[in-house]
Amino acid sequence: MNSLVQDARAAAARVGLKSDTIVIEGGRPLRGSIDVRGAKNLVTKAMVASLLGDEKSILRDVPDISDVHVVMSLLGAHGVQITGDPATGVLVLDPANVSHGDSAEIDALSGSSRIPILFCGPLLHRLGRAFIPDLGGCRIGDRPIDFHLDALRAFGAIVDKLPSGIDITAPNGLHAAKIELPYPSVGATEQVLLTGVRVPGETELKNAAIEPEIMDLIAVLQKMGAIISVEPNRTILIEGVDSLGGYNHRALFDRNEAASWASAALATGGSIFTAGAKQSEMMTFLNVFRKIGGAFDIEEDGIRFYHPGGDLKPVVVETDVHPGFMTDWQQPLIVALTQAHGTSIVHETVYENRFGFTDALIEMGANIEVHKEGLADPNRRVPRRALEQAAVITGPTKLHGTEMVVPDLRGGFSHLIAALTAEGQSVVSNLGLIARGYGDIVNKLEKLRAEFRFQE
Ligand code: EPU
Repeated sequence: MNSLVQDARAAAARVGLKSDTIVIEGGRPLRGSIDVRGAKNLVTKAMVASLLGDEKSILRDVPDISDVHVVMSLLGAHGVQITGDPATGVLVLDPANVSHGDSAEIDALSGSSRIPILFCGPLLHRLGRAFIPDLGGCRIGDRPIDFHLDALRAFGAIVDKLPSGIDITAPNGLHAAKIELPYPSVGATEQVLLTGVRVPGETELKNAAIEPEIMDLIAVLQKMGAIISVEPNRTILIEGVDSLGGYNHRALFDRNEAASWASAALATGGSIFTAGAKQSEMMTFLNVFRKIGGAFDIEEDGIRFYHPGGDLKPVVVETDVHPGFMTDWQQPLIVALTQAHGTSIVHETVYENRFGFTDALIEMGANIEVHKEGLADPNRRVPRRALEQAAVITGPTKLHGTEMVVPDLRGGFSHLIAALTAEGQSVVSNLGLIARGYGDIVNKLEKLRAEFRFQE
């Protein structure tokens, strides 16, 4: 069994999926209402932030996804006592007895997550040392951690690369730092926040990521007693404090999940109400959705996304850091673009390997060309960068069912949408990889009246 299949099965088991393979009868519009809970990319970081406090923290709207279970186990391995259950959406995290975890246990858990790198700052503060095994996460490019390690060094940490992982110590304590990121990396910005909040003096971070999930993490840290100001031009100032308390926080909704279901509504010609989704964090997505010919109603408690009839239109979009079009939105959207009349272009500028999922769509009948070296296009919004790629999608094309092996989280969700859009039967395996970041899939598919069954 390869390691991807192992990861997928483990993830499926964590959230109680009956099997890691699903059989879908596609070609029916998805219609109904689903709840979107807290964002994976905030919740997992807020859970890590609890390590910094002297008191219990309460996190609400937690999604029941495999990544949350992994971070619960990682925190548990470091002595954090957790009560509550992602199934009910509330976790209480008590960091009273933080300790060094068992490295074999941490290693086993880390196979499927990149979150351990964010334990560094909190563990250095609490215990004076952190050990980070090899990192997992989705296989969507090299995903280096050099910005993280450089930031930790700037705070005075000593980084030792060992065959088994990375050993980080601070024999002379940590001090405030002036850091400029080469790229507004989400993870590296979080690293600086989670480390800088408790070092004495003022830390300045330039070229910071300003994604809504980062703003929500700053809100969490402020509730704990941190002093962080977001200045113009992607600069964040952190005034270190001696100690932090706990927090009581309702997580920001998952805009990636909302955008994924929106794309599913459009691709299948249906209508989905995403309860909990909000307009302000999704403005860029909403513009593109409307340009393609999708419609939406913004309501008090959520957003309804639907196909209003008529032909869908092609679009040129480029992924970018916030407030640009998120890299995590492009994969589900591409399935909808296979149904648009004309040629669309999607440029991926954040990761170097995020179009692998299109192979399965092509097999299903989609007309997609991937240009690995990118594509010169007069409609480009930002200048050409080295790691970009382009997908050229010409539609509309009928999709027909096939067998698909999910390669990663977002690519996997597009496989699911493609299977739901396609005529006939599809068999989607490695479903657990989707459960890393999408909660309650079975219940949601049922609510949307999808026709599916698990393969034993
Ligand atoms: N990068 C480096 N060096 C580093 C860190 C990043 O070169 O030390 C590069 C990456 O290789 C990538 C780019 O910088 O090409 C952006 O990476 P970033 O650090 O911003 O991403 P991340 O923190 O690893 C988070 C989300 C991703 C999301 C990106 C962009 C989490 C756990 N992951 O990743 O989410 O795509 O930000 O918004 O928060 C997903 O949810 O499926 C997912 C992949």
